[in-house]
Amino acid sequence: MTAAPVRYSPAVETVQPDEKETQAGLNETFDTILETTAHDYGHAVRSVHAKAHGILEGTMRVHEGLAPELAQGLFAKPGEHKVFLRLSTNAGDILPDAISLPRGLALKVLDVEGERLPGAEGTTQDFVMVNGPVFQTKTADQFLGNLKMLAKTTDRLEGTKTVMSSVLRGVSKALETVGIESPKLQSLGGAPNVDPLGQTYYSVTPFRYGDYIAKFSIVPVSADLTELEDKEIDATDRPNAIRETVQAEMRARRGVWELRVQLCRDLERQPVEDPTVEWNEEEAPFQTVATITVDPQDSWDERRVRAVDEEMRFSVWTGLAAHQPLGNINRARRSAYQHSAEFRARFNRCPIHEPA
Ligand code: HEM
Repeated sequence: MTAAPVRYSPAVETVQPDEKETQAGLNETFDTILETTAHDYGHAVRSVHAKAHGILEGTMRVHEGLAPELAQGLFAKPGEHKVFLRLSTNAGDILPDAISLPRGLALKVLDVEGERLPGAEGTTQDFVMVNGPVFQTKTADQFLGNLKMLAKTTDRLEGTKTVMSSVLRGVSKALETVGIESPKLQSLGGAPNVDPLGQTYYSVTPFRYGDYIAKFSIVPVSADLTELEDKEIDATDRPNAIRETVQAEMRARRGVWELRVQLCRDLERQPVEDPTVEWNEEEAPFQTVATITVDPQDSWDERRVRAVDEEMRFSVWTGLAAHQPLGNINRARRSAYQHSAEFRARFNRCPIHEPA
């Protein structure tokens, strides 16, 4: 039997004294990446997860009859919401897809009712996820250390990254030959070049879940998606192979994903301040609260790409007070995402729009 979920209170977070300095350091380092890529492309892109591989539009149905501890925040009221999804890989520059990188999935749920997080524009709830359950660093300060290294490589390491990834195909040996330890390089390539439509995505970091605390996941469930689970994409000589593959697949497939919630049941074993710790699924199981459906469509439709990839931003801080991002890493994301989006808006002379 699983333990009862832990109740949320502000005391579940521990704010460090130097967080403001780290956040300023992040923005300063992101500026190096943003300015380099904007200069190279003549167009500003996200400082992380710059390359989109598909933009999808669909609906999310919040299930009826959820248990009281699951019927919280956005999920308190059953019903349908329009959603946008953006598939990405995590580099801050636009790299050829032969460099195999972790996948990202951003979800924007429209027309959400309830008190907003401080400064949250619009009426949407964003979820920002990757295809692995843990983050590479415990604190934003450590992340800043890695980012400084990456910032130096933006623009210069493309050749090295390409070579590494083709040599590596999933292993980390060659990383040492270029003088970088493998944990740092996980985010630089070497993972199998998986089809993003077959992957399970995780919020990695925890959030307030109304009266409770939770991590989230998005899991493919329709056969059209699950049969892509182990599919690898051959990106040899095809710089946009992922985008092309997703486009061909989504023309004929119906994507159905479940949105699941992993309630925290023990603050020691499922810590709030350390996203390098995976919350054991036996002790804290994921439970389904909503279903996302995407009908066959053009996943690289020019108008939708413009509206979502260019004119929108996704941030865990765009949403309800009931889903406040928790922990050191999440606190640091607040100004970083805003800063990156503001740079894009300014450089591209195109304001960021929240869908009405
Ligand atoms: C201190 C930690 C982190 C920092 C400083 C950071 C920073 C950023 C920034 C600046 C952006 C670009 C925002 C924009 O221009 O719109 C971004 C996007 C993104 N980040 Fe993070 N991030 C952090 C942690 C995480 C974590 C833990 C995850 C895993 C869930 C994650 C996943 C993503 C994804 C998927 C995107 C792309 C969102 C989109 O499609 O628009 N990040 N991040």
